[in-house]
Amino acid sequence: MHKLLSVLTVFTAFGPLGAAAPGPLPPSGLRCEYLVHAMGVDVASPRLFWRLEHSERGARQTAYQVLVSTTPSVSAGDQWDSGKLASSQSTHVAYVGKPLESGTTYYWKVRYWDQDGSASPYSAVTRFDTGLFSDGDWKARWIRGGNQLRKEFQLAANPRRARAYVSGIGYYELRLNGNKVGRHVLDPGFTAFDKRILYVTYDVTDHLRQGANAAAIMLGEGWYRGRAAILQIDVEMADGKKLVITTDGSWKGAQGPILSDSIYNGEEYDARKETPGWDLPGYDDRAWAPVSLDDPPKGVLSAQLMPPIRVVGDIVPLRMTNPRPGAYVYDMGQNFSGWVRLRVKGPAGTVVRLRHAELLYEDGTLNVENLRRARATDTYILRGDPEGEVYEPRFTYHGFRYVELSGFPGAPKLDTILGRVVHTDVAPSAGFASSKPILNQIQRLVFWGTKTNLHSIPTDCDQRDERMGWLADAHLASETAMLNFDMAAFYTNFLRSIRDSQDATGAVPDVVPATRRGPADPAWGSAYPLLALYMYEQYGDRRILEQHFEGIRAWAESLRSKSENGTVNFVKYGDWVPIEPTPGSLVSSAYYYWSVDIVARAAEILGKKAEAETYRKLAEEIAAAFQKRFYNPESRTYANATQTAMTLPLYLGITPEALRRQVFANLRDDIVYYKNTHLTTGIVGTKYIFPVLTQLGRADLAYELATQTTYPSWGYMIENGATTLWELWQNKTGPSMNSHNHPMLGSIGAWFYTALAGINTDPKSPGYARIRIEPQVVRDLQWASGSIDTLRGTVSSSWSRTPNSLRLEVTIPAGSTAEIHIPKLNLADLTILEGNRPVWQNGAYVAGIPGVTGARDGGGDIVLEALSGSYAFESIGR
Ligand code: BGC
Repeated sequence: MHKLLSVLTVFTAFGPLGAAAPGPLPPSGLRCEYLVHAMGVDVASPRLFWRLEHSERGARQTAYQVLVSTTPSVSAGDQWDSGKLASSQSTHVAYVGKPLESGTTYYWKVRYWDQDGSASPYSAVTRFDTGLFSDGDWKARWIRGGNQLRKEFQLAANPRRARAYVSGIGYYELRLNGNKVGRHVLDPGFTAFDKRILYVTYDVTDHLRQGANAAAIMLGEGWYRGRAAILQIDVEMADGKKLVITTDGSWKGAQGPILSDSIYNGEEYDARKETPGWDLPGYDDRAWAPVSLDDPPKGVLSAQLMPPIRVVGDIVPLRMTNPRPGAYVYDMGQNFSGWVRLRVKGPAGTVVRLRHAELLYEDGTLNVENLRRARATDTYILRGDPEGEVYEPRFTYHGFRYVELSGFPGAPKLDTILGRVVHTDVAPSAGFASSKPILNQIQRLVFWGTKTNLHSIPTDCDQRDERMGWLADAHLASETAMLNFDMAAFYTNFLRSIRDSQDATGAVPDVVPATRRGPADPAWGSAYPLLALYMYEQYGDRRILEQHFEGIRAWAESLRSKSENGTVNFVKYGDWVPIEPTPGSLVSSAYYYWSVDIVARAAEILGKKAEAETYRKLAEEIAAAFQKRFYNPESRTYANATQTAMTLPLYLGITPEALRRQVFANLRDDIVYYKNTHLTTGIVGTKYIFPVLTQLGRADLAYELATQTTYPSWGYMIENGATTLWELWQNKTGPSMNSHNHPMLGSIGAWFYTALAGINTDPKSPGYARIRIEPQVVRDLQWASGSIDTLRGTVSSSWSRTPNSLRLEVTIPAGSTAEIHIPKLNLADLTILEGNRPVWQNGAYVAGIPGVTGARDGGGDIVLEALSGSYAFESIGR
């Protein structure tokens, strides 16, 4: 009910009776390229974002003024003064001032004019930093030489400004004068290193000081399976003098306490080999070897413009058992990605082992069978500090719920270890809750399953010897991810990685970055057009479509080259891990159609008329060929009549209008009568069956499937102890493929927001500029509440009901408009009140409610037209 409460608070603060100061308030939430205080922006014309704040309903922007300056006060827009520009745009506003300089800090602020022409005060000043724009800006060289690298340098005074540009592959940690710089872990993000390597820009002004300084870098193997680093610190002194500290041949290297590190196998750390003081000035490194200058890796250096991987939180173990002598097993109570922190005291040379697993055997010992070849073991060798020692690994991570501790000197306690949750630190941007506990439990699985599979790329799983960017997993889970987290910068980066791995034929690999060769299964590679489309729909990102238009067109063409008479037989996985398999050619052909359809849509959006026509026509031909090949007019089903086979053409609109009802009736019968209200779908069908049931008026059936607790269902996972989403519907624990943390079946999470809370963006006015609120009030659901923190501001929808009334509270951000559907629920003599005043009565719209501009009878619901603001509707009938 928390969400309901917060909606209420907003309502009373800013509602029609609210007493807040009238008029436009300073814009908030300023961002550049989706990031707050973006560092290292290497985009020539970065896009700026702000949120409109206003005390009244119906608020919108009619003009804005942006000032960008290199001086912090921004008293003038010496780099860019947009002037008062008539425009409603408050997101993705492209910087068009003086050409941006490399390695510079830009400060900016914005104000806007509202619907009445009143100007808001200016926002608070914010900033972004540019990165290094060209190869020539990089003075540093790649170096290698052991897993610890160091260099001392002198500064004549404390610097006025200092920026570090750094990367190191596979993984690195930058340290200055004894301190870790920043809170990132497991940098850089995973890319195809022969194409692109990501660097990070840090403000290190406060890390440096007059006199001797030390720069130090630790390296791990990561995905590169080798070690090399590059660092450049650009320093500006108070007197304007500039100097550059770079990795070069004068650095020294040595092998430190990390004996080995591997993403899958874990880290071995011998604390006796630590080199205290090595990251401080004055350390005697005469025994260290000079580094070797490395041939630069082939990939270009690009700024890492997405949220970093961080330790985002701690988990205290629930319990500790001692299932066999010397082995203690901790239950963290939650499956997650990361590692544990160990506290230990004992003699030097004691070897302590931490093994990680998702599962236990009946006897309480660890079951690591489903990790396959990943050893997931961290080893710590004590230095023998009488004060005790603390260890946590640096260059590995595990997916686990249970930890086995062995070799521990003495008797461990519950607080001997602490869970450290590690993943890309995307901000949670939404919430969903309802009166049905099982839905809230599924939301929890989805939340954990989604975020713990974000590790700079969307991973398939976080525990076994895989953890890769499998593309079907990526697109099937992406809408759910976008609705629950702020994913825009993350997928912007990932889309670029997909393009980086596209070959000359337009094909992309199944896995990005490509750790496997060969063209993708159509359902996998279609992540390319699909993610671009979702970025456009959810975030309103048109530039993504521009940048990737040729790429997604080439992808569609690669499918065309594989097609015969309009359908595609090429398939590797199809509707993966189903209960009832669907012919792969049907799935591949559906994605062929969809890819072409997205190219046509993108061309329409971008005003590419010729391409729009070509691909629209091609899409129609594919639909006709699909229909001809897979539709069975006698049974009015498709192919082998599985749920997936019927869902895909319905979802994509391939089924001709006149046949939709009949096909749908067969789908419904299959679910209800033949499968006793259970799914038979794999990962593909599972995502689309919920919207299909909802669109065709059977949200109640979708709800029954969602709340099912017997096999196969999410409830079945929960009843069998799941705390993240499983890879399979089956409860397997053996050595075969059965991860217990795979995000792909989390596609259901999107349906909670779009159907139960009823929050939808209009694809024609994407990014929630135009919103459709259409909650599904079904079966025994008494209330549901969803709230999404969009780029334009919060959108929320919360409803609750009694036998003869429905209360619906809605928030629409300033600048957006909405169509609000209030279900009639078969009530007679319906009256709809807003703040105690009628807006619908005696079968007609009653004008006069601020912000509501009209209403109509939509059949099963009353459809209100509303401007921005917070509303509380009460619909009462008999
Ligand atoms: C991965 C999947 C992936 C699949 C391809 C598995 O090993 O974990 O989720 O999509 O292979 O079939």
